[in-house]
Amino acid sequence: MNATLSASRPRPGASSSLQAWVESIERRARSRLGGGRVADYIPALATQPADRLGIALCTRDGDLYTAGDAEEPFSIQSLSKVLLLSLALRSHGDALWQRVGLNPSGMPFNSLMQLESERGKPRNPFINAGAIVVTDHLVSAYATPVKHLQDIARHLSGNPAVRIDREVLASEWQHRARNAAAAYLMKAFGNLNNEVDAVLETYFAGCALRMSCRDLAIAFNYLAADGVTQAGGQPFIPPAMAQRINALMFTSGMYDAAGDFAYRVGLPAKSGVGGGIVAIVPGELSICVWSPALDTSGNSVAGQYALELIAEGLSHLRR
Ligand code: DON
Repeated sequence: MNATLSASRPRPGASSSLQAWVESIERRARSRLGGGRVADYIPALATQPADRLGIALCTRDGDLYTAGDAEEPFSIQSLSKVLLLSLALRSHGDALWQRVGLNPSGMPFNSLMQLESERGKPRNPFINAGAIVVTDHLVSAYATPVKHLQDIARHLSGNPAVRIDREVLASEWQHRARNAAAAYLMKAFGNLNNEVDAVLETYFAGCALRMSCRDLAIAFNYLAADGVTQAGGQPFIPPAMAQRINALMFTSGMYDAAGDFAYRVGLPAKSGVGGGIVAIVPGELSICVWSPALDTSGNSVAGQYALELIAEGLSHLRR
């Protein structure tokens, strides 16, 4: 990232051919609307409009290309796990890995099966149990962790209107049994320092953040830019940390379908059950796609297809 990055970036991209390409991908990916189902295990998510599809691309120099419903805020859900991890690694460094593993689980994101036999150490930071341990670090580190999360999401995206959706938060809390079970099990194994309710409240607040594709492509651009944010060009995490987070997204970011997705798309990515997916082309681009209907692993159907088309097109663009 060049040092002259100004506060006015990101800005609409100057390349009309790149803009036309993003729009053509959005049109083609619309053919996949109608497949999959909107998540309904959290009732507040069940009302999401299944016909939406948004795409936003942000280059490391701050050029922004958007198409479709890219400006519409949605529930970021597990995309927050990337933010939680970045913050915890910033404050605790590699000590985090004594409490959370680095390997794919091969299981659904809310599974409890491995947690008992692996003595309360979650497989990775992108399954629910792993993110709950990561959140425990943040609850220890910040006096007002929920406010901190909202502030940092606003800062990284440059959008002061980013907020926590209270209805989604209440719905998550009401249906917290499985996450609470994971948290209590980890507490019993000595892998949770704070009270379960305080950790869950912060974890759910992250899930309930409402952001658009545009916000998210800008906010996560630091993963495409050696840890440097679009928010005034400030370093957020060191380059090696960005590289490692990308590696974890590649191996564990797409639930139990991470291998299939890696084969088809080949980019580090993180998915959320709100239908958002953030993908990174390291050194070049951050991408966010959103379409609420999910496949059986919990990944957006049209969103994954859009990313397949983008990944295919990237090689053409580089020729
Ligand atoms: O913990 C939950 O139930 C959801 N809020 C998790 C969100 C999600 O996208 C699934 N993630 N790993």
